[in-house]
Parts: sequence; C-alpha cells; structure tokens
Amino acid sequence: MRNKIIAANWKMNLLHADAVRLVNGIKEKIGNELNGVDVVLAPPYTLLSTVSELIKNTHIQLCGQNVFWKQSGAYTGEISPEMLKDSSCNWVIIGHSERRNIMGEDDEIIRKKVNTALDSGLKVILCVGESLEQREGGLEEKIIKNQVEIALKDINNDRLENIVVAYEPVWAIGTGKNATPRQISEIHTMIKKWFSGHFEKNGENMSVLYGGSVSPDNIVEIINSENVDGALVGGASLKAESFSKIVLASGD
Ligand code: PGA
Repeated sequence: MRNKIIAANWKMNLLHADAVRLVNGIKEKIGNELNGVDVVLAPPYTLLSTVSELIKNTHIQLCGQNVFWKQSGAYTGEISPEMLKDSSCNWVIIGHSERRNIMGEDDEIIRKKVNTALDSGLKVILCVGESLEQREGGLEEKIIKNQVEIALKDINNDRLENIVVAYEPVWAIGTGKNATPRQISEIHTMIKKWFSGHFEKNGENMSVLYGGSVSPDNIVEIINSENVDGALVGGASLKAESFSKIVLASGD
C-alpha cells in the first residue's frame, strides 16, 4: 500500500526559535518509525535551512510553500525551483488558494510553476478547491476539474508520479469548519476519475490529499474516508502536539 502523506503548511508563521522548538517536538513525538506516513514540512523560506539541519537523518521531508517559474534572473523577491532544491527541498506547494486569492495567481501562472518545478525534479503538491459561493452554486466539480486541467495541461504520464493533488475547499481553510467525509470523498473520487480518464498509465495511482481545518479531532474520520491519501495541515501543524497526533493517527 502507498504511504499516506501528511504535509504541514506553516504559512507566514514562526521565527527561528519557534521552528527549532516545533521540529524538535515533532521528532520527539513521532520518533523515527513513521509506519506508512510520509511527513512533509513546508516552512517559510527564511526557515528552510534551519529546518533542513533539524531533520537531517530523519524521514521528514522539506517543502517550499511557493516557487517562481524561472530558474534565475531579474525577478526581485522570487525564489526559483533550483533554489528550493539547493535548500534541501524535494517538494513544493503550488496553487494554494491564498496565493490564488490574495496574490492573484491564476491557472496559467500555476501551470507555468508546475512545469518548471517538475523540470527541476521537485515533487508538486497542487492545491485546488472551490469557494463557498461556488459550492453553494453547485459549481465545485466544474471549478476543480478546470483548475486541474489547466495546471496539468503540459503533463505526460511519466511525470504523474511527481504530482500530488490537495483538495482544499476555500471555505474550510482556517475556519474550523472541515468538509464532511462524504464531500471530501466525492471530490477525491472525481479527481481520481479525471486522472484515469486523461492518462493511460498511473492515473489511478494519484494521491489526493485533503486540506481545510484538519485537526487531531477529525483526522481519523478524514484519513479513513474513501480515496483520501493524506492531508495538508495549516493551523494544527504549528503545534508539535497536534501535528504529531495527526501524523500518528494516519499511520498503519
Ligand atoms: P488550515 O489550513 O488547516 O489552517 O485550515 C490548511 C491549508 O491552508 O493548507
């Protein structure tokens, strides 16, 4: 069986001392036996080197929260895939709804980022999800299919193994109101069907994570829902106690 993936999205939080405490706390609580779970940490750029030192000789993996679509040049304030790799990341989150909605990233930008990140050998967590208004209008499947379709327009079979999709309904992010297991499974099943319909090989093996108010209280129900292969955790990943509980509850 494929490992579950539990990814921590720290967003724009934590300073060095906090990160040291948090990572040491996680290491202590989850130990070195991860039992069927891949743990991925996405700190802000400023903490990548600190976290990379702290997770040396563990199974914990490092992830960027965002990336630019060029490798170098006059792009003030941006970070390239090569820079992420050089800072020990093997993953990157692309298309988070906060980047789409606050920073104005559209599907075209996300497509370019996915391509460059994959070219550089990074694994991509592609975030998709509908707004409350879109769900209330019954548009969620259409919106999500469209997001996936544009982002992965240039992708062929061989690259699929480096892509994971995170379904994150915008109305569930940071609100304490997670989607129900049924809503989650419906969308995850739809995404997986889309993949097997579009790719001859590997489509059915795609991992789809859920994100949006995941906590120690709801992880068991969520992780055991049909077609859920892991979680992308925001708020609850900022405390060693709650994040470790989520990781441990997702194991075999
Ligand atoms: P949340 O964030 O767990 O705080 O809802 C999830 C995310 O935005 O990835």
